[in-house]
Amino acid sequence: MGIKRLEELPVDGRRVFLRLDLNVPLDEEGTITDDTRIQAALPTLQHLLEREARLVVASHLGRPKGVRLPNCSLEPVAARLADLLDVEIILSEDSVGDGPRKMAFALREGQIMMLENLRFYPGETHNDDSFAKQLSTLADLYVNDAFGCMHRSHASIVGVPRYLKDRGIGLLVEREIQHLSRLKDKPDHPFVAVIGGAKVKDKLELLTSLLGQVDTLCLGGAMALTFLAARGHKTGASRIELESLAAAERFLRKAASSETEILLPVDHVVADEVREGAQSREVGIDAFPPTAHAVDIGSGTIQLFRSKLETARTVFWNGPMGVFEVPPFHRGTEQIGKAVARSNAYSLVGGGDSVSAVRRSGLVPFFSHVSTGGGASLAFLEGKAMPGMSVLEEV
Ligand code: 3PG
Repeated sequence: MGIKRLEELPVDGRRVFLRLDLNVPLDEEGTITDDTRIQAALPTLQHLLEREARLVVASHLGRPKGVRLPNCSLEPVAARLADLLDVEIILSEDSVGDGPRKMAFALREGQIMMLENLRFYPGETHNDDSFAKQLSTLADLYVNDAFGCMHRSHASIVGVPRYLKDRGIGLLVEREIQHLSRLKDKPDHPFVAVIGGAKVKDKLELLTSLLGQVDTLCLGGAMALTFLAARGHKTGASRIELESLAAAERFLRKAASSETEILLPVDHVVADEVREGAQSREVGIDAFPPTAHAVDIGSGTIQLFRSKLETARTVFWNGPMGVFEVPPFHRGTEQIGKAVARSNAYSLVGGGDSVSAVRRSGLVPFFSHVSTGGGASLAFLEGKAMPGMSVLEEV
């Protein structure tokens, strides 16, 4: 049995448990700083409202680890969603028990209630069966449109659907699978991946899975410094992941015997301090000052990566090229974003930081797909199991 699409589910007038990924960033005042994930959930919500479904919306926010933390409340999210849909949304303080059950059973056609952060309950991340069962009693059928959580074996992702026979995916998950599958299974060549970010440790599996798949792998960000150190280059006062040096060396050896060309930075912007307004200068890779930190890729590297992006037919980008949140060290990341946006390639960006860089630069409309998944999109591309999908395939 394949996974059912939203259009195939008998949702008319019925109570739907709709799992969304509304895990959005909030500032210290609790204001949403990026509502992309809320916006991305709208098509499925609108479809269900048009079909007069009674909606029980569920999500997590942050990692409160089973504790009711006020700064992880979904209250601002419910308010934002109500604004965007121009409907009333009742937030249930509890997610299981009499309160939410009464509310769910009192829902009229086309009404929405939202459960408070599922991770206020330890049963969510522990995939506790009785927690999942209690959640399932709130609805008649299950729709998962939380792509960013499909790699998690949590109660609302794998437990609840086992109790609800009618189950399937929402429009966002369907779109994410279509785009990521195109990249994974039938990319046009040349295929160029640009991978940056902080830690080699977090990206090694992804990088290894890309060997032999992509024609060129451009490595930037803090992570690239560990690879440069593994090749014997000096990296000044930049923080190197000593525990990942041996793995980085092994990766480079493996890459040398693969079909994939590895490009590392040839120059950097360096500064004595990583703060806004700090003095900075560009240095070549063999002239790294002993006391300076790398804060961005240099113009030679931008040019080198750009030359590959210009002729690419598929591009995957994950991770910033430097300390992009501290201007002017955002320049390398921004220039790479612009180069991808200008190319004629099918382009996909995934992962929190690179997505917010693309958003900040106003480049979203120029990308073929901006994934809402961080860890989930990487897990999908690495070919890892996606428990949230497998459970929906079960007969
Ligand atoms: C994400 O932000 O990638 C998803 O919401 C999943 O969150 P998690 O990594 O805390 O499980």
